Amino acid sequence: MSNRIEFNRPFMTGKELEYIAKAKSGNKLAGDGPFTRKCHEWLERTAGCDKALLTHSCTAALEMAALLLDIEPGDEIIMPSYTFVSTANAFVLRGGVPVFVDIREDTLNLDERLVESAITPRTRAIVPVHYAGVACEMDTILSIAKKHGLKVVEDAAQGVMASYKGRPLGSIGELAAYSFHETKNIISGEGGALLVNDPALALRAEIIREKGTDRSRFFRGEVDKYTWQEVGSSFLPSELIAAFLWAQLEESKRITDDRLAIWENYHTILEPLETEGLLRRPIVPEDCQHNAHMYYVLLPEDADREKVLGLLKSNGISSVFHYVPLHSSPAGKRFARISGELNVTVSHSERLVRLPLWAGLKIEQQERVATILAEALRG
Ligand SMILES: Cc1ncc(COP(=O)(O)O)c(C=O)c1O
Repeated sequence: MSNRIEFNRPFMTGKELEYIAKAKSGNKLAGDGPFTRKCHEWLERTAGCDKALLTHSCTAALEMAALLLDIEPGDEIIMPSYTFVSTANAFVLRGGVPVFVDIREDTLNLDERLVESAITPRTRAIVPVHYAGVACEMDTILSIAKKHGLKVVEDAAQGVMASYKGRPLGSIGELAAYSFHETKNIISGEGGALLVNDPALALRAEIIREKGTDRSRFFRGEVDKYTWQEVGSSFLPSELIAAFLWAQLEESKRITDDRLAIWENYHTILEPLETEGLLRRPIVPEDCQHNAHMYYVLLPEDADREKVLGLLKSNGISSVFHYVPLHSSPAGKRFARISGELNVTVSHSERLVRLPLWAGLKIEQQERVATILAEALRG
């Protein structure tokens, strides 16, 4: 057996191909067939949202959110710079201006204490990103949004099966987006979902997703023909993707529990290294039930991250870092602006290392990761 430890290994429940074959035999390959309906029902039940709509990615769900909120050129959207490009790009596509606010030192989530000072007359929405499946401080963010008449779009790409004060991530803002990309906990290769929690937006969300038409209502027999109603695009995945996803959603608790056990193992094994001052482990606030989407460590300021990653790699361990903060990227400089200082964003993004985490990772493999990491940090 190879000694290599991959960074990610997509987990298969074993039912994926069976369900795809079933979808194929039913001759329903385009979107919104029986498997899509099962996924929608599951998401609505589990996330407790008003309406769930599968999309072909979380990126697509965020783009739908920008359309639904009628974002216009010059409208401002408050978000962290420490996030994936799609959080910002979805709004920039509509001419919106991302306004980057620093992140919290503990969770690496949008620092809610800095949001209010970023608000201007052009602000339309706040996009909290639940980093690593750990919730942002949503009560504070919701009350700021309410006070200033802003919408909240949760970027819950990493948040499936996680919660805040008992409320599932994705059920809290007016809109939310999940990702089922192969790097996530629950996967369909590429995939995502838009969760709609404001009933007033539900019908338009369906229309935007179906090329700007009322085709969904036509299929339900509510109208006798479907026509072009407003701006939209094709955001729905094929039934084959939904069939694959259904095999994963059915097993979502087992997958999450397995990942949580692996996360806890890392947390225990790495405690002595934290005590020694060699790294900092993730911090999960009491109000947050996370989903073990990732295990990361923060290296001390004077550590050489390249060297650490290099030593892990030369021992067959694949480890990565992210994100290059968006405000420092070419497109970020062109399309967005900064509110205040982004010191935590810059410092943490330079010190973060993500460790291999996937359902099925063995404790011996985790111990090997910790041993090599300690070796690298002790120099
Ligand atoms: C925070 C965040 N937002 C959005 C996305 C985009 O997800 P997708 O690849 O499903 O479009 C990702 C993917 O990694 C993400 O981590």
